[in-house]
Amino acid sequence: MPRISEYFFRSAILFLLAGISIGIHMSISQNHNVIGAHAHINLLGWVTSALFGGYYALNPAKAAGRLPMVQYVVYTVGVVIMGVSLYLLLAGNAGMEPIVAVSSLITFAGVLLFAWIVWMPAGAGSRAMPQAAE
Ligand code: HEM
Repeated sequence: MPRISEYFFRSAILFLLAGISIGIHMSISQNHNVIGAHAHINLLGWVTSALFGGYYALNPAKAAGRLPMVQYVVYTVGVVIMGVSLYLLLAGNAGMEPIVAVSSLITFAGVLLFAWIVWMPAGAGSRAMPQAAE
């Protein structure tokens, strides 16, 4: 499995642990204020990161070069900041709103990079190593 897939799955499982912990806390406290943070950490953090990792594992040629690593860092940093700031916003800290806004744009940039990687031929826009013939 390409290194980038391993990175995505390692991040994904940490997001799932955080997302489920928030879900269990909501259930026990019967306070669902932070439902949006729970849903986004689980879906952007766990599900989408795992899908990215799975895509790179199935298409190792697309995992080559620097661009996938840039995509990983941009996307993951965006989701971490967005998850934490959205949680704090929904918990009552109105001052978090600009951070949620900026981090959601960072997350979106990570998705745009992924769209580029999916649509462009392998190695486009990155210094990819030549792939061994299969
Ligand atoms: C042990 C694991 C989990 C627990 C205890 C849990 C708990 C909860 C709770 C208490 C709510 C609020 C329900 C409401 O107020 O209507 C909720 C909503 C939600 N959860 Fe989870 N959850 C868990 C795992 C997950 C996972 C793995 C995902 C996604 C991959 C997920 C996605 C969502 C979504 C999208 C909502 C919003 C649903 C809506 O607005 O109708 N949850 N969860």
